[in-house]
Amino acid sequence: NDRYAVFGNPIAHSKSPQIHARFAGQTGQDLIYTAEHIEEAVFETAVQCFLQGDGKGLNITVPFKERAWALAQWRSDRAELAGAVNTLYRLEDGRIAGDNTDGLGLVRDLADNNSVQLSNARVLVLGAGGAVRGVLQPLLAAGVASILIANRTPARAETLAELFADDGRVQACGFEQVPAETFDVIINGTSASLQGELPPIPAATVGSTTACYDMMYAAEPTPFCRWAAELNAGRVIDGLGMLVEQAAESFRIWRGVRPDTAPVIADLRAALQ
Ligand code: ATR
Repeated sequence: NDRYAVFGNPIAHSKSPQIHARFAGQTGQDLIYTAEHIEEAVFETAVQCFLQGDGKGLNITVPFKERAWALAQWRSDRAELAGAVNTLYRLEDGRIAGDNTDGLGLVRDLADNNSVQLSNARVLVLGAGGAVRGVLQPLLAAGVASILIANRTPARAETLAELFADDGRVQACGFEQVPAETFDVIINGTSASLQGELPPIPAATVGSTTACYDMMYAAEPTPFCRWAAELNAGRVIDGLGMLVEQAAESFRIWRGVRPDTAPVIADLRAALQ
C-alpha cells in the first residue's frame, strides 16, 4: 500500500486522515493516510525517513510549513511565493518536491463552492502572517482588481505587499487606516478568532453584496463570521471548505485524480455540529 501522512505538532485534531480516506474511497485508490505527531527537533529526519520508505507524499501543517519549504529540493512557483510548503512528494529523479495548495484551496472554495466572483473584485485581507502570504498569489491569479492587506502590525503587511510590488495590485495598511468603503470580498487570515477577538475595521467595509470569508472554522460561527452576519454581509463563509479543497489539490498532485469535494465538506459540516 502507498502511504501518506500529515506531519504537525499538535496533530491530534487533524481531519486530514478522514478527508483523504474519503477521497481514496471515492476514486478507488488503495492508500493509507495517517496523522503523525512530530517532535520539533526531528522534523527533517522524519520527512527523509518517511519519503525513503513506503511514503509517497506528506502534508505539512503547523509549525513546520516554512521548514518544509527549506527542505524541498524543488518548489512550485506558488510554493516559492508562499514561502511555505504544505505538500511534499518525490520527483522521478528522487528529489523532494514542495508545493503549497492552501491558496488554491481558498480560491476554489470562494469561486467554485460559493460562487463568489473574484475577477475584478476589490479584496480586503486581514492579517499578514504565513496563512495570508500563502493565498496572495492565487488570489491575484484569479484576476482580482486589488488586494489591501491590513494588519495589527502594519510593517508586516508592508513587507508582504513589497513581495508583490511588481504586480501593482497589492497595498498595505494598519487596521486604523482601512478606508470606510465597501469591499467585494473580505478575508480574515488573522488568528484573532482563536482569542475570541475581531480585527477592528470599519463596519462600512461590509455591504449587502460583500462576501466575508474567515480562513478559520469552528462548530460555532467565529467572531468574524458573527460580525459579518450582524452587518448583513452578502455572504458569510468559514474555512471548512478551504480545508477540504487544499486536501483535494494535494490528492490530485499525488494521485493524478481530483476527488469530489462537495460530499466531504457536507459530512464534515454535519459532524461539527
Ligand atoms: P499564521 O501562520 O497562522 O498566519 P502568524 O504568522 O502568527 O500565523 O500570523 C498571525 C496573524 O494574526 C498576524 O497577522 C497577527 O497580527 P500581527 O502581525 O500584528 O501579530 C494576527 N493576529 C493574531 N492575533 C490577533 C488579534 N488578537 N487581533 C488582530 N490580529 C491578530
